Amino acid sequence: MFLLERRAPRGSTHEGDRNRTTMKWPKAFVRIPADDPWATCPVEELARKYDAVENHGWYRNLEPTLDELRSVVTDGDIVIDYSAGTGILVEQFLKRNPSQQVGFVLVDASPKFLRLALDKLGADERTAFRWIQYLKEEKRLQMLDEVLPAPLLKEGAAALCSTNAIHLYYDLLDTLRAWGRVLKPGATALIQSGNINNPNAAEGTWIIDETVDQLQPLAIDLVRNNDKYESFRASLDDAKRMTAYDKLRAKYFLPVRPLSYYVDTFREAGFDVVNVYEHSIGALVADWTDFLSAYHEGVLGWAGGCQRIDKTEPSDEAVTLRQELLRDSLAALFNHQPDFLANWTYITCRKPLDS
Ligand SMILES: C[S@@+](CC[C@H](N)C(=O)[O-])C[C@H]1O[C@@H](n2cnc3c(N)ncnc32)[C@H](O)[C@@H]1O
Repeated sequence: MFLLERRAPRGSTHEGDRNRTTMKWPKAFVRIPADDPWATCPVEELARKYDAVENHGWYRNLEPTLDELRSVVTDGDIVIDYSAGTGILVEQFLKRNPSQQVGFVLVDASPKFLRLALDKLGADERTAFRWIQYLKEEKRLQMLDEVLPAPLLKEGAAALCSTNAIHLYYDLLDTLRAWGRVLKPGATALIQSGNINNPNAAEGTWIIDETVDQLQPLAIDLVRNNDKYESFRASLDDAKRMTAYDKLRAKYFLPVRPLSYYVDTFREAGFDVVNVYEHSIGALVADWTDFLSAYHEGVLGWAGGCQRIDKTEPSDEAVTLRQELLRDSLAALFNHQPDFLANWTYITCRKPLDS
């Protein structure tokens, strides 16, 4: 069980400069595809907003993965951080292990997040970056082995991490098979998520995204009964519109899948599942409110509307009021307590030696 405490704000991202070492990447490997459009665009506010979660207590969910990763890698290894986001895992690993000569390839589907990761970590020779593109004609994301160059595929990765992301993968089996093609025999895959339905979760712990569904009736109740939210009241009786917003919410926050689905799919993709465990992670309601407020349109879009559904942008006042509704309904959901416990599930897999 983790203590509920706030992390100290991080210092300079270049703290590790003194300890930097030269990582030996495969010959002709380009660490930073500098000509890719994502690599040169400005860093966006949304990415910075996400990156701030590193200071939230609930982001201690990375610690078990960082510990496990440290125990499986040695100098010279290549590690894939799949769905690396803004690079928080790699940043924390390098801070904890400043002299470790491991090469991290940060791979992500979001050019905005990857851009910030590049900004934070690109000066460190131990990092490399690849963007997974959506192939419109084929209606799918590129697979991992499609974005890595031949020299790196030939060498193979010693480990792969996927933190706070696997619940977002539509095509899980294909994704895991691609991981298998990139990992060396005997390599480890470390996966964790707070959005897995785990029968072993401690009683009273939350699946984080389920808070979004469960706050809906409380928000509706507030709109009906608190005159502060009167301007949102009329929209409640438009069933068709409310259904459209339910569907929008399901796009932002995918339906939660059970642990057995993940374990079975790893096995089907050829992995050995060597360990499954869980931790209860403390989260401050204020931090969780702050995080969800970045996705206010997906959480409570019906309150004030949005371009995608209503074909008109909400006013600034409506968005501000929506944010207040989010805060008030989350406070009601957690009985006005300052914190709650969420369950995080950790899955450790290995590519068989004889594969
Ligand atoms: C909640 S963030 C987690 C980022 C990071 N791993 C961390 O723990 O801070 C989820 C990330 O998954 C990425 N993502 C979503 N769907 C994906 C997919 N199908 N394949 C690869 N990455 C995906 C998003 O772009 C985003 O950066």
